Amino acid sequence: MTAKIQRIGVLTSGGDAPGMNAAIRAVVRSCIYYKKEPVAIYRGYEGLIAGDFEDLDARSVSNIIQRGGTVLKSSRSKTFMTAEGRKTAYENLKKADIDGLITIGGNGTFTGASIFYQEFKFPVIGIPATIDNDIAATDFTIGFDTACNKVIDAIDSIKDTASSHNRLFFIEVMGRHSGFIALRTAIAAGVEAVMVPEQEMSIEELMQVIERGGVSKKSSTIVVVAEGCKTGSATQIAKMVDEKYPDYDTKVTVLGHLQRGGTPSCTDRELACRMGVAAVEGLMQGKTNDMVGIVWQNVTFTPFKEMLDMDKFINLDVFRINEILSV
Ligand code: F6P
Repeated sequence: MTAKIQRIGVLTSGGDAPGMNAAIRAVVRSCIYYKKEPVAIYRGYEGLIAGDFEDLDARSVSNIIQRGGTVLKSSRSKTFMTAEGRKTAYENLKKADIDGLITIGGNGTFTGASIFYQEFKFPVIGIPATIDNDIAATDFTIGFDTACNKVIDAIDSIKDTASSHNRLFFIEVMGRHSGFIALRTAIAAGVEAVMVPEQEMSIEELMQVIERGGVSKKSSTIVVVAEGCKTGSATQIAKMVDEKYPDYDTKVTVLGHLQRGGTPSCTDRELACRMGVAAVEGLMQGKTNDMVGIVWQNVTFTPFKEMLDMDKFINLDVFRINEILSV
């Protein structure tokens, strides 16, 4: 391993995700282990531009592995999208003698990191953390598993009340552009139908799926709707169903940000620990402009540009499985 990099800045950016703290801790402790100096950069790229930095030690990250959110705070920075903002960020890093950067976040974070690298050749490694799991070049992102567990807990509760009244519930889950949370939780919670941005479904098609349940005398019906569903939001879909099929007693629950908070699962903590160590080791080995991933249990490094250009395909076989299992 080379000793070129001595001070390593770490930041979290974009939507927070459970497990980000475990990743921060892993980065900080790996730095200490390898005799590097970890530096906190607060509020994501906003803090990079404002020079909101703090030197950390091993104890700075005690007792955070189990906490949701991010102790470094986060932002969706508009200023970092400007050349001027990125120049100020670079100058701040130089002033603070930071010579390597680890960014923890999603596609927006890595788009920024990639441009930053192209402009200043500043060593940077990304760690994928978003509840959406919509990042290519890694099997899972930090936060996805915890969010899915939150969703199935909520659906289990809703099922109790839905079946007491023979109701048709539409449950909206997060995922602006992707249906990973919706598809995984639909199977795991045993719901009747699922609607995602990647697969169009009309109200008539939805009702055909639902009425299969009616034939087999189900006591309640649950439909999981991903936030980015093209047919509409859960509220809009319920309204369309009310108008065309007035016999149904429909209800809507939007799970919203509760999916993003809470104690990270064992899976997310382990993922975060492995990725945090890999990010520091990667920087020390001279890797840069790459995202760490874990694919088939192995640590990988993929250039930002390559992973940003890749599509992460959703497993649409879930629809077939759901049809079989909701007879
Ligand atoms: O990117 C993660 C995510 O939770 C999306 O699923 C959701 O659409 C979005 O963030 C919400 O972002 P914000 O909290 O900034 O409104």
